[in-house]
Formats: sequence, C-alpha cells, structure tokens
Amino acid sequence: MADRPKVFVSRIIPDEGLNPIRERCDADVWGDELPPPRDELLRRVAGVDGLLALLTDRVDDELLDRAGPQLKVVSNYAVGFDNVDVAACTRRGIPVGNTPGVLTETTADLAWALLMAAARRLPEGDRYVRDGRWKTWGPMLLMGPDVHGATLGIIGFGRIGQAVARRARGFGMRILYHDPRRVSPAVEAEHGAEFRTLEGILPEADFLTLHVDLRPETRGLINAERLGWMKRSAILVNTSRGPVVDSMALASALREGTIAGAALDVTDPEPIPPHHPLVGLDNCLIVPHIASASRATRGKMASMAAANLLAGLRGDRLPTPVNPEVYD
Ligand code: DGY
Repeated sequence: MADRPKVFVSRIIPDEGLNPIRERCDADVWGDELPPPRDELLRRVAGVDGLLALLTDRVDDELLDRAGPQLKVVSNYAVGFDNVDVAACTRRGIPVGNTPGVLTETTADLAWALLMAAARRLPEGDRYVRDGRWKTWGPMLLMGPDVHGATLGIIGFGRIGQAVARRARGFGMRILYHDPRRVSPAVEAEHGAEFRTLEGILPEADFLTLHVDLRPETRGLINAERLGWMKRSAILVNTSRGPVVDSMALASALREGTIAGAALDVTDPEPIPPHHPLVGLDNCLIVPHIASASRATRGKMASMAAANLLAGLRGDRLPTPVNPEVYD
C-alpha cells in the first residue's frame, strides 16, 4: 500500500516486535548478524519515517540529516540510550523511545550469576576440568570468598540496582548503595540498604556491582584511583555500560592484585578484542553483553520497541519516551 510508512529496522528482533511492524509498515529489516556498517546505515535511513535502532547504531546529527525531515520517531531496542544523541532528536522534534522495566529482573539475574560465578571461580573450574587437570579432590583447590554474609556495594540504586539488592537479601548480605539521589527511608528499609558516598562504599564492599547509565559524569567512574580504594579481596561486577570502568586500569588492577576479580557483561571497547589485556586474565570473567538475553525479556523488549515505533509513526505519544520534553 502506498501510504504505509517506511521504516528501517537495524537488525532482526524477536517476532513480538517484528510482526506488528511488518504488518503496518514498509519495513526494511537488516538481516545480518553484524550491525549495518555506518555508510550502509546512513544509506538505509534516507527517507524513512521511522527508525528502530539498536545500541550498536550511533544515532546523531549526521544520521538524522541523512534520514530527512519526514523522520517521525527513533525507537531504541534497549533501556540504555547512550548511542542516541537525544538532544539532536529533541531539537528536530523527534521523540525517542526505549524499553525500561521489562529487562530489570533479567538483568539483575545476570548480575547475580556473574557475582556468584566470579566468587566461586566457576569459569576457572570449568576450564580445569576440560583441560584434564582434575586429578583428585584438593583441599586448597579453587578457593574463593563466601557470598553469603558478605558486604555488597551497589552503585546506581534504580530499578536494576534494587532488584540486585532483593537477591542479596536472600544471601544474608549487608547492602550498601550509592546513588546521586538518595532513595527514601522507606525504600532503604525495604531493601535493608544503607546509603554511602562513593568514597565510602569502595573500601567497604566485598562485591561492587554497577547499575548506572553511561553519561559524561559516569564515564570512567571506576578508574585507577577508585580501584585503589577497594579491598584487595573485592570483586567488581559490571552489567551497566563498558566505559563506566576504565578497562586498562581494571586490567592493571587485576594483574597486580589491587582487587581480586571482575565479572563483566559489558566492556570498553565492545566487542572486546581477543588480544585485549582483560581477556587473558584468569580472574576476569567476560560475557558478551547478554544481561537482558532471556527469550521472554527480549520478546517484551521487541514488543515495546515496536509499540514506540508505531505510536511515533501515528503521531501519538510514545509509551516510553526518553525525551518527553519533545511534547511540550
Ligand atoms: C539495554 O537494554 O540497555 C541493555 O544493555 C541491552 O538489553
């Protein structure tokens, strides 16, 4: 049909999102496993009414200019939207959508899995068995810290940080948190969580887990100096965004024993190249940005991203806009 809106979808997403988009739009869907190269992305967005982007696509002035003035909506298939120049979209009156809420528990599950795996040295144990090195029960073999009863430091106490706190309570942990905005006494009591400054939390935490957005203020938040304030026995978990941690400083800290271990879902750069100093370290566990990757959650994210895209195309308010000021 001639009046179907033109959209570009920058990767195949679950059917819960793709089907409604294909039913209502003239959809160009990028079918490769790898993201569209920049020049291809710029070519494909020219003249579209809507864009469904992934966190691997940079949406900036250049792209918005290429797309043209008919572009009505940018829907990001992620809760994080640091890949999108939101101010540039707002200047053009384009609403930007994201997928908050639906991935909170799934992301907290993965943060918890990383914490447990790093503490109890599961990847090292698995490699030990596969390499044929398991000869006997060893009294000192692969010892690690206890998780139960330890002190957990949570940096970023929003939805995901609080979901991690709920899991920690089941392990009898002492919970400390830092957030630029202190939560209410009722929320602190609900989680049994104590507020600390950033300087205060680092020396106390046995495990430190990061749940902040990537912003200019959080880029490099965990740097060499702050790693130096942590316990030598501490384990760092990152499921937020790679650049929140200075990855070269982390590699040095892990090599030199400044902290004991790290477990990362996100890295800087991403994907992390196999020759990166972090990759060769036994005390660093890395998985490829899969925190939201349960089938159910990715389906819900797809359906939410489609709902944002279609609302924007109709000229309706997006269900979850990140720049509501566009409607003022
Ligand atoms: C997000 O949504 O921001 C995650 O990093 C990917 O699901």
